[in-house]
Amino acid sequence: MNPVNAIELIDITKTFGGIPANNKVCLQVRWGEILALLGENGSGKTTLMNILAGIYFPDSGKVLVNGSEVTILSPKDAYDLGIGMIHQHFKLVDNMTAAENIILGLKGKGRLDMKAISAKVREIGEKYGFSINPDKKIYDMSVSEKQTVEIIKVLYRGARILILDEPTAVLTTQETDRLFQVLKNMRDDGKSIIIITHKLQEVLAVSDRVAVLRKGEYVGTVDTRDATAQSLTEMMVGRAVSLNIERPEPVNPVPRLVVKSITSYNDEGYKILDNVSFTAYGGEILGIAGISGCGQKELLEGIAGIYPVTPDSSIEYYPDDSGKPTELVGKRPMQIRKLGVALSFVPEDRLGMGLVGSMDITDNMMLRSYLKGKLGFTDRKPPRKL
Ligand SMILES: Nc1ncnc2c1ncn2[C@@H]1O[C@H](COP(=O)(O)OP(=O)(O)O)[C@@H](O)[C@H]1O
Ligand SMILES: [Mg+2]
Repeated sequence: MNPVNAIELIDITKTFGGIPANNKVCLQVRWGEILALLGENGSGKTTLMNILAGIYFPDSGKVLVNGSEVTILSPKDAYDLGIGMIHQHFKLVDNMTAAENIILGLKGKGRLDMKAISAKVREIGEKYGFSINPDKKIYDMSVSEKQTVEIIKVLYRGARILILDEPTAVLTTQETDRLFQVLKNMRDDGKSIIIITHKLQEVLAVSDRVAVLRKGEYVGTVDTRDATAQSLTEMMVGRAVSLNIERPEPVNPVPRLVVKSITSYNDEGYKILDNVSFTAYGGEILGIAGISGCGQKELLEGIAGIYPVTPDSSIEYYPDDSGKPTELVGKRPMQIRKLGVALSFVPEDRLGMGLVGSMDITDNMMLRSYLKGKLGFTDRKPPRKL
């Protein structure tokens, strides 16, 4: 093994508007290892890796790549140092092929030889165990295929240090297993891999070492073979936690929301929800599982009355144990509320859809009550009191 570290971060600090996202963070990543970067949401993982990828520049601290101090001012600087990051949100051009996306932005001499490029893409795929069709358009690809394109894109540019930001969030279990095999093949080839995640089982399954961040601070790094889900959780949250959740039976559950064969089509006429039925009881928490993009969002928005469902779908709301149900399908959110249905919807993209980030809490709360005001003025007192 190469005795020099692939990456060494010393006392990296990065603040946003005076608040530190990373506070004097230190990190060492070796050649030929998979390092998991673990931490709760908001602990500063993405910020730290964006510094390596040339997206952010640290306020202070040192970055060493292969033993030498470097200054990374742009993603191009990062590429030139052999660092490639696969971001949580892919940056691909939909109506271009895999191969075209992979070479996008690269300087070539004279005409592009697409045949040679496709051959090289295939070769990279075979070397590490990906399956990829270089001529396939991005819009025809599954999320997992798109991710493969992103990974090959950085390998094509000669990355020897790969950073993956929550790569499994969008994958099925089988796709995750396949990705992990690819990562192990790359590691065995001497590359250095950093995988950001907050899923303990994945950390234990794929990494050689684990570095933990908590509230922007570096907690420590341990060998994965010495770690357990329990020990990692304690490092993450900073205190002993019980992973055995107590789960008492719900008391007197009564049907509250009876969803019967909800069907829904999107703008392009594709079926998004196909005959979904379930009953949610008062006094219980109902979980809906599935990977991102499988209709959960549309299902919840459909119940909230902001996503269209077919007229033969039915959503019955039972106000109390004896009451008659109210049919919610076909009603707008305002009508639903007027009927006295106490239904609240917290959208998944809270900043994009639920709140206006540039307004304060009072103003955000008033967004829903603006119709109640008289003479075009609204009363700020009741929302303030809350
Ligand atoms: N561009 C930004 N502007 C302002 N605050 C940010 C920005 N990026 C991240 N933060 C803040 O920095 C902290 C760390 O965020 P992040 O690095 O995304 O955490 P993680 O990836 O571990 O979930 C959070 O409090 C987040 O709100
Ligand atoms: Mg993140």
